[in-house]
Amino acid sequence: MSLIHEIDYGTPASKAKKKVTLTVDGVAVTVPEGTSIMRAAMDVGTQIPKLCATDMVEAFGSCRLCLVEVQGRAGTPASCTTPVAEGMVVHTQTERLKRLRKGVMELYISEHPLDCLTCSANGDCELQDMAGAVGLREVRYGYDGTKHPNPGIDNSNPYFTYEPSKCIVCSRCVRACEEVQGTFALTIAGRGFDSVVSPSMAEPFLSSECVSCGACVQACPTATLNEKSVIEIGTPEHSVITTCAYCGVGCAFKAEMRGQEVVRMLPYKDGKANRGHSCVKGRFAFGYATHKDRMLKPMIRERITDPWREVSWEEAIGYAASEFKRIQAKYGRGSVGGITSSRCTNEETFLVQKLVRAAFGNNNVDTCARVCHSPTGYGLKTTYGTSAGTQDFDSVEQSDVILIIGANPTDGHPVFASRMKKRLREGAKLIILDPRRIDLVRTPHIEADYHLPLKPGTNVAVVTSLAHVIVTEGLVNEAFVRERCDWDEFQDWAAFVADPRHSPQAVEKISGVPAELIRGAARLYATGGNGAIYYGLGVTEHSQGSTTVMAIANLAMATGNIGREGVGVNPLRGQNNVQGSCDMGSFPHEVSGYRHVSEDATRAMFEALWGRPLDAEPGLRIPNMIDAAVDGSFKGLYIQGEDILQSDPNTQHMAAGLAAMECVVVQDLFLVETANYAHVFLPGSTFLEKNGTFTNAERRIQMVRKVMAPLNGYEDWQVTELLSNALGYPMHYNHPSEIMDEIAELTPTFAGVSYKKLDELGSVQWPCNEKAPEGTPVMHVNGFVRGKGKFVITEYVATDEKTGPRFPLLLTTGRILSQYNVGAQTRRTANVIWHEEDRLEIHPHDAEQRGVRDGDWVKLASRAGETTLRALITERVAPGVVYTTFHHPDTQVNVVTTEFSDWATNCPEYKVTAVQVMPSNGPSEWQEEYEELTRQSRRIAKPLIAAE
Ligand code: SF4
Ligand code: SF4
Ligand code: SF4
Ligand code: FES
Repeated sequence: MSLIHEIDYGTPASKAKKKVTLTVDGVAVTVPEGTSIMRAAMDVGTQIPKLCATDMVEAFGSCRLCLVEVQGRAGTPASCTTPVAEGMVVHTQTERLKRLRKGVMELYISEHPLDCLTCSANGDCELQDMAGAVGLREVRYGYDGTKHPNPGIDNSNPYFTYEPSKCIVCSRCVRACEEVQGTFALTIAGRGFDSVVSPSMAEPFLSSECVSCGACVQACPTATLNEKSVIEIGTPEHSVITTCAYCGVGCAFKAEMRGQEVVRMLPYKDGKANRGHSCVKGRFAFGYATHKDRMLKPMIRERITDPWREVSWEEAIGYAASEFKRIQAKYGRGSVGGITSSRCTNEETFLVQKLVRAAFGNNNVDTCARVCHSPTGYGLKTTYGTSAGTQDFDSVEQSDVILIIGANPTDGHPVFASRMKKRLREGAKLIILDPRRIDLVRTPHIEADYHLPLKPGTNVAVVTSLAHVIVTEGLVNEAFVRERCDWDEFQDWAAFVADPRHSPQAVEKISGVPAELIRGAARLYATGGNGAIYYGLGVTEHSQGSTTVMAIANLAMATGNIGREGVGVNPLRGQNNVQGSCDMGSFPHEVSGYRHVSEDATRAMFEALWGRPLDAEPGLRIPNMIDAAVDGSFKGLYIQGEDILQSDPNTQHMAAGLAAMECVVVQDLFLVETANYAHVFLPGSTFLEKNGTFTNAERRIQMVRKVMAPLNGYEDWQVTELLSNALGYPMHYNHPSEIMDEIAELTPTFAGVSYKKLDELGSVQWPCNEKAPEGTPVMHVNGFVRGKGKFVITEYVATDEKTGPRFPLLLTTGRILSQYNVGAQTRRTANVIWHEEDRLEIHPHDAEQRGVRDGDWVKLASRAGETTLRALITERVAPGVVYTTFHHPDTQVNVVTTEFSDWATNCPEYKVTAVQVMPSNGPSEWQEEYEELTRQSRRIAKPLIAAE
């Protein structure tokens, strides 16, 4: 294995359709109009020396190293900033050019501290490379670099250093921060020899606006900005292409290695989801993989009050299997089940649901998508016929109006947010429906045209009101609707939304959104050109989550914003493989490809290959499993990679259900909260230790490649295989590619997927089959998957969770950029520097009424329970609304969330909880007890709630 070097073409590719032919050093080359001479030269294999140019950002033309001669033109233009022209004749290697380039390099080197042999970038430095490329052999002006500013090294960022003495002021970092990331945190301060890169107002990186995406570090041609891991370990010697295991954007990375150690993760330019960019989590927060808390030995205990006992894999698997068999013999086939993980690979997820259906012999399998995007599956399948987003991420580059509902892309899906921001800076319009002033409402060079700060729980009313304006003002795309949708259903829907009770004035009373904002936003979405909708958990995690998804789908159909680039309905998926875990048949009513277990032909296909009869009745969902456990009829659970105690609602009920079971098997990286209730702990493997695939939010299937041997000895799919074999249902795969072959054989939308194809193409978006052998970037192009698009009546029904005198505020929740989900991974990295604790955002008015000051401890109480955390006073939230994140187990925000859930899918109503906030002296008694008991449980395995 060797290092993968991606070609740097110097300037971005031109998207022009028209072609131009020129000659470079006598060789003819045809390129799109607008291409730079530098890039055209690369096409004929000529690398013109360069320093300030890189293909991540637009050309700047400051270093003057890339000079060329153009026949018929005076002077020596910079090839990076000069576009090609028809018939142009370019020379790149004349004696004059060689002399000029040497002169430029001489000046740079005379200003540079020449400590190359001990520099962390030695061997990986473009300044060194260019000195070699131009044949520099002497420097007439000395080598001391004394004129350059040397204010000392900025070590404040946990992941990279800034050493100004090595800066060549090429401005690549500044442009990367602006153009790629869109944060505008850097400037060049000072002039001439005093020029220096400056984060924000000459602050250290850590306290500046920098969000640690690392784009500037990647862009820097010298060691001025460099990863601390490279400084500590040395330069990498081989690399492997893999996929980020954090969010649903699915960024592709080169894991750059030295032996078995990851030196750095570099975003892969050919990654079609991220196009060479990343966020702080994917690029830097991989240290959890080797954190001391990793559990690497299997453990068992008979009762959850017993201490853990380390055992061999054989004993642990044998014990778990015999317990599941004993339970089924005693309590019946349906008394056990399994939970798949949206963090594991498609292949691993597929095997867990196969184990449940074929080895357990029931359909009691569910996944964490239950608590996030199950309404997306239901809503989009009902209206369009398929349970997934309609576009690829590239599509946003063609959008004219972007409507974001209940999502916070800059924190939750940062790399896609950067791509979206770029389009917004180019002039696309922005509408945001969110109770909170998310960053995109106003961020450098972007301001939302409309922000509709709706009251939590009123999504259906507001989206239906947008439809009211569109229908009553004649803004429907009738031609599209007549051709593509069921016309009768449309007419019923149009009559429904046109009712005055859905007018902006009426809905203002319900939602608190001024009528003119609803009207303006609706007009802009319907008439502003290509309208694209992106939504998140602020849509789905409601008692009417599925209804809102269908209301959104209606809106897109009514305006014809579906079935081409730049438009569509796009759920921003939370976890890395939440799309995949749903696709793989993780739900109790559906096998892979979203086919109902009651379909005889589908079951017959599985039965023929699996050699076991499948149950035609849907199994239990997670909440039903827990209810049944509390009632005493559900006794055993195999949980792969999910911390349901922390991530699911109503913590006390969850704890009681887990404590009532006789065999809970947890397969995870760490002793997560749920493991406090486990009888068997099976160590899990990280994405760095396994092969497989993830499917991102755009249905893109990408390879996850093993970069190091599993620290526990097994990849997760192998552990499931061992368990299945011990249960008496044989599984014998040699490699995850064989599991994918089985998925393809059984799943029509995956029929054309294979590891060979993924290796060849890099990735494919399902459906991938005979009709679409290379996948489907945009869905519903010539018609909806279900045939005619279905308009669904979306009656607004207020949630049962009501505010009142005891609980007058509404709590809503979300996530922050540096942390991920329940924080099990990110809390075990240096990312904690940005988010040490969950805080409660509260409006100054509400805080003042309660005598709460910024940073004070406050008690957060609901009908379900109470917890304590610190207050953060901010106008980001409207009066009457409070907000917090859920990344830290000691906060246990789900202690206060209720049992209410989406009517169609049971997705919990996390986004609306009536609460009261009051001053407090510090963590509540139970939190202190919890902390102490967890400490004990981890040490001597004492559980928090003993089984009755
Ligand atoms: S790390 Fe990212 S946000 Fe920070 S300065 Fe560099 S490019 Fe800008
Ligand atoms: S820090 Fe690096 S990228 Fe930025 S101006 Fe200096 S040398 Fe160029
Ligand atoms: S945006 Fe998501 S997928 Fe990309 S690097 Fe960040 S966490 Fe990973
Ligand atoms: S690379 Fe063209 S001017 Fe610097």
